[in-house]
Amino acid sequence: MSNYSIFVRAKRWSKFLVNYVSEKARGLDFSMVYVGDIQRNVEEFHGYSMTDAGDMRRMLKAVPVNPGRSAFIDIGCGKGMCMKCAIESGYRKVAGLDLDGHLLDIARSNMKKLGMDAECILANALEFDRYSEFDVFYFYNPFGRSVFEQVLDKIKASQSERMRDIWIAYYHPVFADVFENAGFILKDELHDRTRDTTTRFYCYPKR
Ligand SMILES: C[S@@+](CC[C@H](N)C(=O)[O-])C[C@H]1O[C@@H](n2cnc3c(N)ncnc32)[C@H](O)[C@@H]1O
Repeated sequence: MSNYSIFVRAKRWSKFLVNYVSEKARGLDFSMVYVGDIQRNVEEFHGYSMTDAGDMRRMLKAVPVNPGRSAFIDIGCGKGMCMKCAIESGYRKVAGLDLDGHLLDIARSNMKKLGMDAECILANALEFDRYSEFDVFYFYNPFGRSVFEQVLDKIKASQSERMRDIWIAYYHPVFADVFENAGFILKDELHDRTRDTTTRFYCYPKR
């Protein structure tokens, strides 16, 4: 079925509306699109849009780690939908970082209203220095190619502080070649035909 069919579009819009109404009723905000000044002015930093919760749950199930013993971080977490799903999946520790303080305030408010414990970190992924604390990294295209290259170098280098298998889930993998060139091994791929979304799973194994 084509991505552009009226049926698929109508389904997406009705899902968006149902989500929106149900979020409003609970005082939450995950799904409203937002692009702040930072993302508007730096071409390499992309704006906010939310990962579909159903897709996220399927992705988390596909990562071959024991969540109860693993730490998850969403790089460019926006309003926090992926942290919510990771907590529901039983991760030992859940965090998200974003360079936009406004989005992080919304993420913190969402977590508080849901009674969930996630660390919402205000940081530029290029400068973040705690990658060694995490096992599973999630990316929904937060930035462009050159930032990706530098962030992946930092994630790989974090093995010198804590040796472990590093797992990546990469949604809409438009810069997949950057992962492959950096030595990450493609382990699996999920494709949702109705939504026309793809996720790639990479591992950078312990040495
Ligand atoms: C496409 S949104 C994804 C949001 C969230 N991960 C999700 O899937 O629902 C990308 C996010 O990355 C953030 N971002 C962009 N460049 C960044 C950087 N250099 N460091 C940290 N966050 C960044 C943006 O502010 C935006 O919230």
